[in-house]
Amino acid sequence: MGNLTVARIIDFDVKTISDVTGRLAVLVTPEGELSPAARSANRLCKGALARMVEGDGLSKAKAGDVVSLPWPAGLDIKALDVVVLPKRPSQSELRSAGAKLAARAGEAALTLMAGSLIKVEELALGFALRAYSFDAHKTDAEAHQPELIIAHKKPTEVQGAVDTAMALAEGVHMTRDLVSEPANVLTTTEFANRLVEMQELGLEVEVLDEDALEELGMRTLLCVGQGSDSPSKVVVMQWKGGAASDAPLALVGKGVVFDTGGISLKPAAGMEDMTMDMGGAGTVAGTMRALALRKAKANVVGLVGLVENMPSGNATRPGDVVKTMKGDTVEVINTDAEGRLVLCDVMWYAQERFKPTAMIDLATLTGAIIIGLGHENAGVFSNDDAFCNSFLAAASAEAEGAWRMPLGSAYDKLLKSNVADMKNIGGRPAGSITAAQYLQRFVQDGTPWIHLDIAGVASVASGTEFSPKGATGWGVLALSRLVQDNYEAE
Ligand code: BES
Ligand code: MN
Ligand code: ZN
Repeated sequence: MGNLTVARIIDFDVKTISDVTGRLAVLVTPEGELSPAARSANRLCKGALARMVEGDGLSKAKAGDVVSLPWPAGLDIKALDVVVLPKRPSQSELRSAGAKLAARAGEAALTLMAGSLIKVEELALGFALRAYSFDAHKTDAEAHQPELIIAHKKPTEVQGAVDTAMALAEGVHMTRDLVSEPANVLTTTEFANRLVEMQELGLEVEVLDEDALEELGMRTLLCVGQGSDSPSKVVVMQWKGGAASDAPLALVGKGVVFDTGGISLKPAAGMEDMTMDMGGAGTVAGTMRALALRKAKANVVGLVGLVENMPSGNATRPGDVVKTMKGDTVEVINTDAEGRLVLCDVMWYAQERFKPTAMIDLATLTGAIIIGLGHENAGVFSNDDAFCNSFLAAASAEAEGAWRMPLGSAYDKLLKSNVADMKNIGGRPAGSITAAQYLQRFVQDGTPWIHLDIAGVASVASGTEFSPKGATGWGVLALSRLVQDNYEAE
Protein backbone atom coordinates (compact mmCIF):
# COMPACT_ATOMS: atom_id res chain seq x y z
CA MET A 1 0.00 0.00 0.00
CA GLY A 2 1.55 3.20 -1.28
CA ASN A 3 2.89 5.06 1.70
CA LEU A 4 2.08 2.91 4.68
CA THR A 5 3.93 4.01 7.80
CA VAL A 6 6.90 1.93 8.80
CA ALA A 7 6.59 1.63 12.58
CA ARG A 8 9.64 0.47 14.49
CA ILE A 9 9.70 -0.25 18.22
CA ILE A 10 12.97 0.28 20.07
CA ASP A 11 14.09 0.12 23.69
CA PHE A 12 13.35 3.26 25.65
CA ASP A 13 16.56 4.96 26.79
CA VAL A 14 16.66 8.70 27.46
CA LYS A 15 20.38 8.73 26.65
CA THR A 16 19.55 8.20 22.96
CA ILE A 17 17.71 11.54 22.70
CA SER A 18 20.83 13.47 21.75
CA ASP A 19 21.33 11.15 18.74
CA VAL A 20 17.81 11.61 17.34
CA THR A 21 17.49 13.34 13.98
CA GLY A 22 14.29 14.22 12.10
CA ARG A 23 11.62 15.05 14.66
CA LEU A 24 11.42 14.09 18.32
CA ALA A 25 8.16 13.73 20.23
CA VAL A 26 7.91 13.77 24.02
CA LEU A 27 4.97 13.55 26.39
CA VAL A 28 3.62 16.26 28.68
CA THR A 29 0.38 16.04 30.68
CA PRO A 30 -2.35 18.67 30.17
CA GLU A 31 -1.34 19.99 33.62
CA GLY A 32 2.19 20.59 32.31
CA GLU A 33 3.98 17.68 33.97
CA LEU A 34 6.96 16.60 31.89
CA SER A 35 7.63 12.91 31.27
CA PRO A 36 11.18 11.66 32.01
CA ALA A 37 12.10 11.92 28.31
CA ALA A 38 10.60 15.40 28.14
CA ARG A 39 12.80 16.41 31.10
CA SER A 40 15.89 15.08 29.32
CA ALA A 41 14.97 16.87 26.11
CA ASN A 42 14.35 20.02 28.14
CA ARG A 43 17.85 19.85 29.64
CA LEU A 44 19.43 19.34 26.23
CA CYS A 45 17.56 22.31 24.75
CA LYS A 46 18.55 24.49 27.72
CA GLY A 47 15.13 24.72 29.29
CA ALA A 48 13.20 25.84 26.21
CA LEU A 49 10.53 23.18 26.74
CA ALA A 50 9.96 24.16 30.38
CA ARG A 51 9.80 27.84 29.39
CA MET A 52 7.12 27.00 26.86
CA VAL A 53 5.12 24.91 29.34
CA GLU A 54 5.45 27.45 32.14
CA GLY A 55 4.69 30.32 29.77
CA ASP A 56 1.43 30.09 27.88
CA GLY A 57 2.72 27.62 25.26
CA LEU A 58 0.19 24.96 26.24
CA SER A 59 -2.61 27.25 27.37
CA LYS A 60 -4.83 26.40 24.41
CA ALA A 61 -3.75 22.78 24.15
CA LYS A 62 -6.06 19.98 25.17
CA ALA A 63 -5.44 16.26 25.52
CA GLY A 64 -4.44 14.81 22.15
CA ASP A 65 -2.93 18.06 20.87
CA VAL A 66 0.64 18.61 19.75
CA VAL A 67 2.65 21.81 20.16
CA SER A 68 5.95 22.06 18.30
CA LEU A 69 9.24 23.82 19.04
CA PRO A 70 11.06 24.13 15.70
CA TRP A 71 14.86 23.78 15.44
CA PRO A 72 15.52 23.75 19.19
CA ALA A 73 19.09 24.65 20.16
CA GLY A 74 21.05 21.78 21.72
CA LEU A 75 19.27 19.03 19.77
CA ASP A 76 20.02 17.74 16.28
CA ILE A 77 16.34 17.76 15.20
CA LYS A 78 13.97 19.71 12.96
CA ALA A 79 11.42 20.07 15.73
CA LEU A 80 10.51 18.94 19.19
CA ASP A 81 6.86 17.84 19.16
CA VAL A 82 5.27 18.17 22.57
CA VAL A 83 2.42 15.66 22.81
CA VAL A 84 -0.20 16.62 25.36
CA LEU A 85 -1.62 13.45 26.91
CA PRO A 86 -2.92 12.53 30.35
CA LYS A 87 -1.35 9.55 32.13
CA ARG A 88 -4.26 7.34 31.06
CA PRO A 89 -5.23 8.71 27.69
CA SER A 90 -8.36 7.60 25.83
CA GLN A 91 -8.29 5.88 22.45
CA SER A 92 -9.51 9.04 20.72
CA GLU A 93 -6.88 11.24 22.43
CA LEU A 94 -4.14 8.84 21.36
CA ARG A 95 -5.35 8.55 17.78
CA SER A 96 -5.78 12.29 17.58
CA ALA A 97 -2.23 12.89 18.80
CA GLY A 98 -0.92 10.36 16.26
CA ALA A 99 -2.78 12.09 13.43
CA LYS A 100 -1.44 15.49 14.44
CA LEU A 101 2.10 14.18 14.63
CA ALA A 102 1.76 12.68 11.15
CA ALA A 103 0.40 15.92 9.72
CA ARG A 104 3.48 17.74 11.02
CA ALA A 105 6.07 15.08 10.21
CA GLY A 106 6.02 15.50 6.43
CA GLU A 107 9.12 13.77 5.09
CA ALA A 108 10.89 13.61 8.46
CA ALA A 109 11.18 10.47 10.55
CA LEU A 110 9.51 10.85 13.92
CA THR A 111 10.95 9.36 17.09
CA LEU A 112 8.39 9.16 19.89
CA MET A 113 9.80 8.79 23.40
CA ALA A 114 6.79 6.83 24.64
CA GLY A 115 8.25 5.54 27.91
CA SER A 116 5.58 3.26 29.36
CA LEU A 117 2.67 4.95 27.54
CA ILE A 118 -0.34 2.64 27.46
CA LYS A 119 -2.12 1.79 24.17
CA VAL A 120 0.67 3.36 22.16
CA GLU A 121 -0.66 1.34 19.20
CA GLU A 122 -3.63 3.71 19.04
CA LEU A 123 -1.27 6.63 18.54
CA ALA A 124 0.53 4.63 15.84
CA LEU A 125 -2.80 3.93 14.12
CA GLY A 126 -3.76 7.61 14.11
CA PHE A 127 -0.34 8.41 12.71
CA ALA A 128 -0.52 5.83 9.91
CA LEU A 129 -4.07 6.80 8.91
CA ARG A 130 -3.23 10.49 8.66
CA ALA A 131 0.12 9.92 6.92
CA TYR A 132 -1.71 8.56 3.85
CA SER A 133 -1.46 10.25 0.49
CA PHE A 134 -2.38 9.10 -3.00
CA ASP A 135 0.40 10.13 -5.35
CA ALA A 136 0.31 7.21 -7.80
CA HIS A 137 -0.27 9.50 -10.79
CA LYS A 138 1.83 12.51 -9.82
CA THR A 139 4.98 12.19 -11.88
CA ASP A 140 7.05 14.54 -9.71
CA ALA A 141 6.00 12.98 -6.39
CA GLU A 142 8.88 11.18 -4.72
CA ALA A 143 8.00 7.95 -3.05
CA HIS A 144 8.14 8.72 0.64
CA GLN A 145 7.60 6.23 3.42
CA PRO A 146 6.41 7.81 6.66
CA GLU A 147 8.57 6.55 9.52
CA LEU A 148 7.54 6.26 13.16
CA ILE A 149 10.08 5.08 15.73
CA ILE A 150 8.52 4.29 19.09
CA ALA A 151 10.88 4.12 22.04
CA HIS A 152 9.04 2.10 24.69
CA LYS A 153 9.98 0.48 27.99
CA LYS A 154 8.27 -2.77 27.03
CA PRO A 155 9.11 -3.12 23.33
CA THR A 156 8.25 -6.80 22.99
CA GLU A 157 4.88 -6.38 24.69
CA VAL A 158 3.97 -3.42 22.51
CA GLN A 159 5.06 -4.99 19.23
CA GLY A 160 2.02 -7.23 18.69
CA ALA A 161 -0.48 -4.44 19.28
CA VAL A 162 1.39 -2.10 16.95
CA ASP A 163 1.49 -4.83 14.28
CA THR A 164 -2.29 -5.16 14.57
CA ALA A 165 -2.71 -1.39 14.29
CA MET A 166 -0.58 -1.38 11.14
CA ALA A 167 -2.70 -4.23 9.72
CA LEU A 168 -5.78 -2.09 10.18
CA ALA A 169 -4.08 0.93 8.65
CA GLU A 170 -2.99 -1.16 5.68
CA GLY A 171 -6.59 -2.27 5.13
CA VAL A 172 -7.81 1.33 5.26
CA HIS A 173 -5.06 2.39 2.86
CA MET A 174 -6.03 -0.34 0.42
CA THR A 175 -9.63 0.89 0.40
CA ARG A 176 -8.47 4.46 -0.14
CA ASP A 177 -6.14 3.45 -2.97
CA LEU A 178 -8.95 1.57 -4.74
CA VAL A 179 -11.43 4.43 -4.28
CA SER A 180 -8.87 7.01 -5.46
CA GLU A 181 -7.83 5.19 -8.65
CA PRO A 182 -9.35 6.56 -11.84
CA ALA A 183 -11.57 4.22 -13.81
CA ASN A 184 -9.17 3.87 -16.75
CA VAL A 185 -6.67 2.34 -14.33
CA LEU A 186 -9.01 0.48 -11.99
CA THR A 187 -10.99 -1.45 -14.59
CA THR A 188 -12.98 -4.47 -13.49
CA THR A 189 -10.05 -6.66 -14.55
CA GLU A 190 -7.45 -4.61 -12.68
CA PHE A 191 -9.68 -4.58 -9.58
CA ALA A 192 -10.04 -8.36 -9.71
CA ASN A 193 -6.27 -8.74 -10.19
CA ARG A 194 -5.56 -6.67 -7.09
CA LEU A 195 -7.89 -8.89 -5.11
CA VAL A 196 -6.30 -12.07 -6.46
CA GLU A 197 -2.95 -10.75 -5.20
CA MET A 198 -4.32 -10.99 -1.67
CA GLN A 199 -3.98 -14.76 -1.90
CA GLU A 200 -0.45 -14.10 -0.63
CA LEU A 201 -2.00 -13.13 2.69
CA GLY A 202 -3.82 -16.44 3.10
CA LEU A 203 -7.16 -15.41 1.61
CA GLU A 204 -8.83 -17.76 -0.86
CA VAL A 205 -9.79 -15.66 -3.87
CA GLU A 206 -11.94 -16.73 -6.83
CA VAL A 207 -12.94 -14.68 -9.86
CA LEU A 208 -16.24 -15.52 -11.58
CA ASP A 209 -16.23 -14.36 -15.20
CA GLU A 210 -19.22 -13.46 -17.37
CA ASP A 211 -19.79 -17.03 -18.51
CA ALA A 212 -19.93 -18.21 -14.91
CA LEU A 213 -22.27 -15.35 -13.95
CA GLU A 214 -24.54 -16.13 -16.91
CA GLU A 215 -24.59 -19.76 -15.82
CA LEU A 216 -25.61 -18.70 -12.29
CA GLY A 217 -28.37 -16.50 -13.70
CA MET A 218 -27.00 -13.18 -12.46
CA ARG A 219 -28.80 -11.33 -15.24
CA THR A 220 -29.40 -8.06 -13.37
CA LEU A 221 -25.71 -7.76 -12.50
CA LEU A 222 -24.77 -8.55 -16.10
CA CYS A 223 -27.31 -6.09 -17.50
CA VAL A 224 -25.48 -3.23 -15.75
CA GLY A 225 -22.11 -4.11 -17.27
CA GLN A 226 -23.27 -5.07 -20.75
CA GLY A 227 -22.71 -1.59 -22.21
CA SER A 228 -19.05 -1.59 -21.19
CA ASP A 229 -15.99 -3.09 -22.86
CA SER A 230 -14.76 -4.11 -19.40
CA PRO A 231 -16.09 -7.55 -18.51
CA SER A 232 -18.29 -7.89 -15.43
CA LYS A 233 -16.88 -10.02 -12.64
CA VAL A 234 -17.75 -11.25 -9.19
CA VAL A 235 -14.82 -11.86 -6.86
CA VAL A 236 -15.15 -14.08 -3.80
CA MET A 237 -12.61 -13.72 -0.99
CA GLN A 238 -12.69 -16.20 1.87
CA TRP A 239 -10.89 -15.77 5.18
CA LYS A 240 -11.07 -18.94 7.21
CA GLY A 241 -9.71 -17.96 10.60
CA GLY A 242 -12.45 -19.61 12.64
CA ALA A 243 -13.71 -23.13 13.29
CA ALA A 244 -14.58 -25.07 10.12
CA SER A 245 -18.13 -25.57 11.44
CA ASP A 246 -18.81 -21.83 11.88
CA ALA A 247 -20.93 -20.23 9.16
CA PRO A 248 -19.19 -17.10 7.90
CA LEU A 249 -20.13 -13.48 8.13
CA ALA A 250 -20.73 -12.30 4.55
CA LEU A 251 -19.67 -8.85 3.33
CA VAL A 252 -21.03 -7.82 -0.06
CA GLY A 253 -19.77 -4.75 -1.91
CA LYS A 254 -21.00 -2.65 -4.84
CA GLY A 255 -18.11 -2.34 -7.24
CA VAL A 256 -19.23 -0.04 -10.05
CA VAL A 257 -15.80 1.04 -11.31
CA PHE A 258 -17.46 3.94 -13.12
CA ASP A 259 -21.07 5.04 -13.10
CA THR A 260 -22.06 7.19 -16.07
CA GLY A 261 -25.69 6.41 -15.32
CA GLY A 262 -25.88 4.33 -18.50
CA ILE A 263 -28.62 5.34 -20.96
CA SER A 264 -30.17 7.36 -18.11
CA LEU A 265 -26.97 9.39 -18.42
CA LYS A 266 -25.81 11.55 -15.53
CA PRO A 267 -25.16 15.28 -16.09
CA ALA A 268 -21.54 16.18 -16.97
CA ALA A 269 -20.87 18.32 -13.88
CA GLY A 270 -19.32 16.15 -11.21
CA MET A 271 -19.56 12.93 -13.17
CA GLU A 272 -15.82 12.39 -12.58
CA ASP A 273 -16.65 11.67 -8.94
CA MET A 274 -18.22 8.41 -10.04
CA THR A 275 -14.76 6.81 -10.05
CA MET A 276 -15.59 6.22 -6.37
CA ASP A 277 -18.73 4.19 -7.12
CA MET A 278 -16.83 1.03 -6.23
CA GLY A 279 -16.46 2.26 -2.65
CA GLY A 280 -18.50 -0.60 -1.17
CA ALA A 281 -16.30 -3.17 -2.90
CA GLY A 282 -13.27 -1.14 -1.82
CA THR A 283 -14.29 -1.33 1.82
CA VAL A 284 -14.96 -5.06 1.57
CA ALA A 285 -11.49 -5.52 0.03
CA GLY A 286 -9.74 -3.39 2.66
CA THR A 287 -11.58 -5.16 5.47
CA MET A 288 -10.60 -8.59 4.13
CA ARG A 289 -7.00 -7.40 3.91
CA ALA A 290 -7.05 -6.14 7.50
CA LEU A 291 -8.63 -9.38 8.76
CA ALA A 292 -6.03 -11.48 6.96
CA LEU A 293 -3.11 -9.32 8.12
CA ARG A 294 -4.22 -9.42 11.73
CA LYS A 295 -5.10 -13.11 11.41
CA ALA A 296 -8.63 -12.70 12.69
CA LYS A 297 -9.97 -15.84 14.38
CA ALA A 298 -13.25 -15.79 12.47
CA ASN A 299 -14.72 -16.91 9.16
CA VAL A 300 -15.56 -14.02 6.89
CA VAL A 301 -16.37 -14.10 3.19
CA GLY A 302 -16.19 -10.97 1.06
CA LEU A 303 -17.97 -10.79 -2.29
CA VAL A 304 -17.79 -7.90 -4.73
CA GLY A 305 -19.73 -7.29 -7.92
CA LEU A 306 -17.42 -5.49 -10.37
CA VAL A 307 -19.07 -3.79 -13.33
CA GLU A 308 -18.89 -0.58 -15.34
CA ASN A 309 -22.12 1.29 -16.08
CA MET A 310 -21.72 2.72 -19.60
CA PRO A 311 -24.12 3.77 -22.36
CA SER A 312 -23.67 1.97 -25.68
CA GLY A 313 -25.64 0.30 -28.46
CA ASN A 314 -25.64 -2.78 -26.30
CA ALA A 315 -26.52 -1.10 -23.01
CA THR A 316 -29.63 -1.86 -20.97
CA ARG A 317 -32.52 0.52 -21.83
CA PRO A 318 -35.05 2.09 -19.48
CA GLY A 319 -38.06 -0.20 -19.66
CA ASP A 320 -36.07 -3.39 -20.13
CA VAL A 321 -37.22 -6.30 -17.99
CA VAL A 322 -34.45 -8.44 -16.52
CA LYS A 323 -34.47 -11.56 -14.36
CA THR A 324 -32.49 -11.77 -11.11
CA MET A 325 -30.61 -14.84 -9.94
CA LYS A 326 -33.36 -15.27 -7.35
CA GLY A 327 -35.87 -15.58 -10.21
CA ASP A 328 -37.78 -12.32 -9.67
CA THR A 329 -38.10 -9.96 -12.63
CA VAL A 330 -37.16 -6.29 -12.54
CA GLU A 331 -38.34 -3.46 -14.77
CA VAL A 332 -35.34 -1.17 -15.18
CA ILE A 333 -36.97 2.25 -15.12
CA ASN A 334 -33.70 4.11 -14.62
CA THR A 335 -30.35 2.64 -15.63
CA ASP A 336 -28.67 4.96 -13.11
CA ALA A 337 -30.17 2.96 -10.25
CA GLU A 338 -27.65 0.24 -11.09
CA GLY A 339 -26.07 -0.51 -7.73
CA ARG A 340 -29.07 -2.41 -6.44
CA LEU A 341 -29.16 -4.47 -9.66
CA VAL A 342 -25.59 -5.55 -8.99
CA LEU A 343 -26.04 -6.16 -5.27
CA CYS A 344 -29.24 -8.18 -5.44
CA ASP A 345 -27.57 -10.92 -7.46
CA VAL A 346 -24.37 -10.97 -5.38
CA MET A 347 -26.36 -11.00 -2.14
CA TRP A 348 -28.50 -13.88 -3.36
CA TYR A 349 -25.43 -15.82 -4.45
CA ALA A 350 -23.71 -15.15 -1.10
CA GLN A 351 -26.66 -16.63 0.79
CA GLU A 352 -27.20 -19.60 -1.54
CA ARG A 353 -23.55 -20.60 -1.47
CA PHE A 354 -22.37 -19.71 2.03
CA LYS A 355 -25.49 -19.80 4.23
CA PRO A 356 -23.90 -16.93 6.19
CA THR A 357 -24.61 -16.33 9.87
CA ALA A 358 -25.26 -12.69 8.92
CA MET A 359 -24.76 -10.45 5.90
CA ILE A 360 -23.70 -6.84 5.46
CA ASP A 361 -23.79 -5.08 2.12
CA LEU A 362 -21.94 -1.83 1.47
CA ALA A 363 -22.67 0.50 -1.42
CA THR A 364 -22.34 4.07 -2.63
CA LEU A 365 -25.99 3.55 -3.43
CA THR A 366 -27.92 6.81 -3.41
CA GLY A 367 -27.40 10.54 -3.71
CA ALA A 368 -30.41 10.81 -1.40
CA ILE A 369 -28.41 9.55 1.59
CA ILE A 370 -26.06 12.54 1.13
CA ILE A 371 -29.07 14.85 1.22
CA GLY A 372 -30.27 13.14 4.40
CA LEU A 373 -27.06 12.59 6.36
CA GLY A 374 -24.38 14.62 4.59
CA HIS A 375 -20.82 13.36 4.82
CA GLU A 376 -20.89 12.64 8.55
CA ASN A 377 -22.84 9.41 8.76
CA ALA A 378 -23.45 6.38 6.61
CA GLY A 379 -27.07 5.22 6.36
CA VAL A 380 -27.65 1.97 8.25
CA PHE A 381 -30.64 -0.22 7.39
CA SER A 382 -31.31 -3.55 9.06
CA ASN A 383 -33.86 -6.29 9.58
CA ASP A 384 -32.36 -7.28 12.96
CA ASP A 385 -32.08 -4.94 15.96
CA ALA A 386 -29.43 -6.91 17.86
CA PHE A 387 -27.18 -7.25 14.81
CA CYS A 388 -27.71 -3.62 13.90
CA ASN A 389 -26.86 -2.47 17.42
CA SER A 390 -23.67 -4.47 17.46
CA PHE A 391 -22.62 -2.76 14.23
CA LEU A 392 -23.57 0.69 15.54
CA ALA A 393 -21.53 0.01 18.68
CA ALA A 394 -18.50 -1.00 16.60
CA ALA A 395 -18.82 2.08 14.38
CA SER A 396 -19.12 4.33 17.40
CA ALA A 397 -16.07 2.74 19.04
CA GLU A 398 -14.10 3.54 15.90
CA ALA A 399 -15.58 7.03 15.51
CA GLU A 400 -17.00 6.13 12.09
CA GLY A 401 -20.34 7.92 11.70
CA ALA A 402 -23.34 5.62 11.23
CA TRP A 403 -27.02 6.39 11.62
CA ARG A 404 -29.92 3.94 11.50
CA MET A 405 -32.68 4.59 8.98
CA PRO A 406 -36.12 2.95 8.80
CA LEU A 407 -37.48 0.17 6.62
CA GLY A 408 -41.16 -0.66 6.20
CA SER A 409 -43.77 -2.19 3.93
CA ALA A 410 -45.29 1.21 3.08
CA TYR A 411 -42.00 2.10 1.38
CA ASP A 412 -41.85 -1.28 -0.31
CA LYS A 413 -45.11 -0.61 -2.16
CA LEU A 414 -43.37 2.15 -4.09
CA LEU A 415 -41.47 -0.52 -6.04
CA LYS A 416 -44.58 -1.99 -7.69
CA SER A 417 -44.27 -2.45 -11.45
CA ASN A 418 -47.00 -2.90 -14.06
CA VAL A 419 -45.01 -5.33 -16.17
CA ALA A 420 -42.57 -7.09 -13.84
CA ASP A 421 -42.27 -8.21 -10.19
CA MET A 422 -40.74 -4.86 -9.24
CA LYS A 423 -39.25 -1.63 -10.55
CA ASN A 424 -35.67 -0.65 -9.79
CA ILE A 425 -36.64 2.79 -8.46
CA GLY A 426 -39.34 4.09 -6.15
CA GLY A 427 -39.33 7.76 -7.09
CA ARG A 428 -37.76 10.75 -5.33
CA PRO A 429 -39.34 10.52 -1.86
CA ALA A 430 -37.30 8.37 0.54
CA GLY A 431 -34.88 7.44 -2.23
CA SER A 432 -32.38 5.76 0.09
CA ILE A 433 -35.10 3.78 1.84
CA THR A 434 -36.74 2.46 -1.34
CA ALA A 435 -33.25 1.40 -2.48
CA ALA A 436 -32.87 -0.51 0.79
CA GLN A 437 -36.37 -1.99 0.37
CA TYR A 438 -35.36 -3.26 -3.04
CA LEU A 439 -32.31 -4.98 -1.51
CA GLN A 440 -34.32 -6.45 1.34
CA ARG A 441 -36.35 -8.44 -1.19
CA PHE A 442 -33.15 -10.42 -1.75
CA VAL A 443 -32.49 -11.22 1.90
CA GLN A 444 -33.55 -14.74 2.82
CA ASP A 445 -35.75 -15.43 5.84
CA GLY A 446 -33.64 -15.79 8.96
CA THR A 447 -30.58 -13.97 7.66
CA PRO A 448 -29.68 -10.99 9.85
CA TRP A 449 -28.78 -8.26 7.41
CA ILE A 450 -27.40 -4.74 7.38
CA HIS A 451 -27.28 -2.44 4.37
CA LEU A 452 -24.77 0.42 4.59
CA ASP A 453 -25.33 3.29 2.17
CA ILE A 454 -21.88 4.89 2.11
CA ALA A 455 -22.36 7.37 -0.75
CA GLY A 456 -21.70 10.29 1.61
CA VAL A 457 -18.80 8.89 3.62
CA ALA A 458 -16.65 6.91 1.19
CA SER A 459 -15.08 10.05 -0.24
CA VAL A 460 -15.17 13.59 1.12
CA ALA A 461 -14.35 16.98 -0.37
CA SER A 462 -12.38 18.27 2.61
CA GLY A 463 -9.95 16.32 4.76
CA THR A 464 -10.98 14.74 8.06
CA GLU A 465 -8.94 14.26 11.22
CA PHE A 466 -7.62 10.96 9.92
CA SER A 467 -7.61 11.33 6.15
CA PRO A 468 -6.66 13.87 3.54
CA LYS A 469 -9.49 14.95 1.23
CA GLY A 470 -10.81 12.22 -1.03
CA ALA A 471 -11.18 8.57 -0.09
CA THR A 472 -11.67 7.91 3.63
CA GLY A 473 -11.67 4.14 3.92
CA TRP A 474 -14.83 4.47 6.04
CA GLY A 475 -15.99 1.14 7.46
CA VAL A 476 -12.81 -0.89 7.54
CA LEU A 477 -12.18 -0.15 11.22
CA ALA A 478 -15.83 -0.62 12.21
CA LEU A 479 -16.14 -3.93 10.37
CA SER A 480 -12.86 -5.25 11.75
CA ARG A 481 -14.05 -4.33 15.25
CA LEU A 482 -17.47 -5.90 14.65
CA VAL A 483 -15.70 -9.13 13.71
CA GLN A 484 -13.36 -8.93 16.69
CA ASP A 485 -16.08 -8.20 19.23
CA ASN A 486 -18.72 -10.63 17.95
CA TYR A 487 -17.21 -13.42 15.89
CA GLU A 488 -13.74 -14.11 17.24
CA ALA A 489 -13.16 -16.82 19.80
CA GLU A 490 -11.12 -15.59 22.74
N1 BES B 1 -23.69 5.86 -7.60
C1 BES B 1 -24.89 6.58 -7.50
C2 BES B 1 -25.12 7.20 -6.12
C3 BES B 1 -24.12 8.23 -5.67
C4 BES B 1 -24.41 9.58 -5.83
C5 BES B 1 -22.94 7.86 -5.07
C6 BES B 1 -23.49 10.53 -5.40
C7 BES B 1 -22.04 8.81 -4.64
C8 BES B 1 -22.31 10.14 -4.80
C9 BES B 1 -26.07 5.66 -7.81
O1 BES B 1 -25.80 4.65 -8.71
C10 BES B 1 -27.13 6.51 -8.42
O2 BES B 1 -26.91 7.01 -9.48
N2 BES B 1 -28.26 6.64 -7.71
C11 BES B 1 -29.33 7.41 -8.19
C12 BES B 1 -30.61 6.63 -7.97
C13 BES B 1 -31.81 7.20 -8.63
C14 BES B 1 -31.68 7.08 -10.13
C15 BES B 1 -33.01 6.47 -8.13
C16 BES B 1 -29.36 8.72 -7.43
O3 BES B 1 -29.04 8.71 -6.24
O4 BES B 1 -29.64 9.75 -8.03
MN1 MN C 1 -26.07 5.23 -10.71
ZN1 ZN D 1 -23.85 4.02 -8.83
